[in-house]
Amino acid sequence: MTVPDPRPAMRVDVVSIFPDYLSPLDLSLIGKARADGLLDVRVHDLRDFTHDRHRTVDDTPYGGGAGMVMKPQPWSEALDHVVAQGHSGAKPRLIVPGPGGQRFTQTLARELAREPWLAFACGRYEGIDERVYDHAREDLGLEVSVVSLGDYVLNGGEVAVLAMVEAVGRLVPGVIGNAESLVEESHEDGLLEYPIYTKPASWNGREVPPVLLSGNHGAIAAWRHEQRRARTAARRPDLLHASHGVDGTDVEITAATPADVPELALLMRACWVQEAVANDTLDIPALHESLDDVRESLETTQTWVARSGGRLVGAVRTVRTEPDGDDWFIGRLCVAPDLQGRGLGRRLLEHAESTAPDGIRTFTLNTGARSADNLRMYKKAGYRLVDVPAPIPGAVTLVKRRRG
Ligand SMILES: C[S@@+](CC[C@H](N)C(=O)[O-])C[C@H]1O[C@@H](n2cnc3c(N)ncnc32)[C@H](O)[C@@H]1O
Repeated sequence: MTVPDPRPAMRVDVVSIFPDYLSPLDLSLIGKARADGLLDVRVHDLRDFTHDRHRTVDDTPYGGGAGMVMKPQPWSEALDHVVAQGHSGAKPRLIVPGPGGQRFTQTLARELAREPWLAFACGRYEGIDERVYDHAREDLGLEVSVVSLGDYVLNGGEVAVLAMVEAVGRLVPGVIGNAESLVEESHEDGLLEYPIYTKPASWNGREVPPVLLSGNHGAIAAWRHEQRRARTAARRPDLLHASHGVDGTDVEITAATPADVPELALLMRACWVQEAVANDTLDIPALHESLDDVRESLETTQTWVARSGGRLVGAVRTVRTEPDGDDWFIGRLCVAPDLQGRGLGRRLLEHAESTAPDGIRTFTLNTGARSADNLRMYKKAGYRLVDVPAPIPGAVTLVKRRRG
C-alpha cells in the first residue's frame, strides 16, 4: 500500500501590507493546488509586526529624495516569524520582487519550482531598507534573490508575486494534470509556441492549416517547428539568437581532436557530477572516464565539441549501435552548467542526428530517470521513453524515428 505523503510539495509565504491583494491565489489551478494540499500558501500582513498606534511601516529616506522607504524593524520581525515556522532547521529562499533584480524567466521559474519553500517580501513605496536584506542573509542565513518581472516599475511587489507564484506553482509536480502540456510551451526551449487551433476546421471563412488535419505526425511536427522559428524570429529575434548561440557569441560545432581531450574530460566530469546528484548515484560510467578513456573514445565513436569564443561549452558522441544496424546511438551529450537551458543541448542533439549516415532509421539515447531537464528536452525533440533496459542503473532509454 502506498502511504500518501502528508507534506505539501511546496510552501510559499508572502509578506505584504495588502494581504487581500494576494486573494487571487485562491482561484483557478493555484487555488485548487492549495485545496489539494500541493501548495501551502500563507499570506502575512506586515503591519501585524509594527508596534505603534498607526501601524507604521515607512519613513523618510536618509540623504533626502522623493518617496518613503519601508522601515527595517517590521520587516525583520516578519521574516523572523516566517523562518521560525520552519521545521528542523528548514529555511525558505527569500524572493524580493524589484525592478532592479534579475529578470524572471521560465528558467528561473523551473529553478524556483525545485525549492521546497519560498518566501516573498512585497515592497511598496521606494522599496525596503537595505539592511533588511543583510539581516535575511547574515542573521537568518537565507538565500536572497531580488527578482524583476520586467523592465518597468510597478507600485508594489504583489502583482509580481502573483505572476511568479502562478508560473512556479504550475511547474510543481501534480499541479497541472497533464504534465506533457508543460513541455510544449513557449520559452521551454528558447522558442515561442506554434499557432494553435481547435474545432471547427472552417470558421467564418478561415481554414485551419491543412497539415494539422493530415494525420501525418511527422509533417505536423515539422510544420510546428518551422512556425515556432518563424514566430520567434518575427516577435522575439533576441530569443532566436539565444537559442542558437551563447550570450550572443556564435557556437561552432566541430569534430573533436586529441587536443580537445583535457577540456572535454573536465566538462564531462562537471556535467555528470550534476547528473550523479540528480539521480543519487555515482554509478554512472561517464563520471568515471579517465583522460585515456576519453582519448580512446575518439577512435571508437564520432565525438563533436561545441566551442564559444574559444571555450569548450558542449559535446556529444555518436556511434552506430550495431556495426550493420539501423540505429544511431547518441551519447555523452553535455553542456557547460552555466550555459544550460539556452538551447545548446538541443543544437548538439540536432547536429548528432544530422550526422547519421544513410540507412539509419532510429536514434537512441539514455539519460537518468531523474534527470528532469534532460527528459524534458529529449521529449520536446521528439524522443519517446521505451521499455528497453538502459545499460546503466537508474537510467532510461529514449528513441526517436528518423524523419524522411
Ligand atoms: C515603486 S517600486 C520601487 C522602485 C524602486 N525605487 C526602484 O527604482 O528600483 C515599489 C515596489 O514595487 C515592486 N516592483 C516594482 N516594479 C517591479 C518589477 N518590475 N518587478 C518586480 N517588482 C517590482 C517592488 O516590490 C518595489 O519595491
